[in-house]
Amino acid sequence: MTDTELRVSKIESGTVIDHIAGGQALNVLAILGIDGTSGEEVSVGMNVPSDRLGRKDIVKVEGRELSQDEVDVLSLIAPAATINIVREFEVADKRRVTRPDTVGGVLSCPNANCITTESEPVDSRFDVLEEGVRCAYCGTIVRESIASYIGTA
Ligand code: CTP
Ligand code: ZN
Repeated sequence: MTDTELRVSKIESGTVIDHIAGGQALNVLAILGIDGTSGEEVSVGMNVPSDRLGRKDIVKVEGRELSQDEVDVLSLIAPAATINIVREFEVADKRRVTRPDTVGGVLSCPNANCITTESEPVDSRFDVLEEGVRCAYCGTIVRESIASYIGTA
């Protein structure tokens, strides 16, 4: 651990999402539904130097151990992310994100006529493809800028 790597202090217990592609940290928080309003302690480093990625983002969530299901959806925008579960200041578990078959309630369909975007609330669901995602209801495929479809509106 070099000085330049430690931009944000170590946490006592919780989850460190490391090796996020530079610039994607806020999208990671959006996908996880973490916006700080419930008082959670969150540290974010953006575009910090990384041996492996050149520049990377890092997110530290104190006091909360994210489950594999919760983090797998991050593979859409941060496939290289490492999930570190920290207990008593030590990394107790280190995992990678794996691409899920489907993601529900995370992305909004760009098709204004899709049942998931009409007034009757139906949770969105997308099948995850090799490249991109496909709405399970109307078949609309999103290949680029997936992060811009994060949200339920
Ligand atoms: N970390 C933290 N608080 C702790 C322990 C670790 O915030 N109490 C962070 C470290 O700053 C690092 C990440 O969790 O960003 C992973 O820690 P560690 O496995 O010790 O670092 P590396 O060996 O560099 O990880 P990797 O091999 O995944 O690059
Ligand atoms: Zn749709």
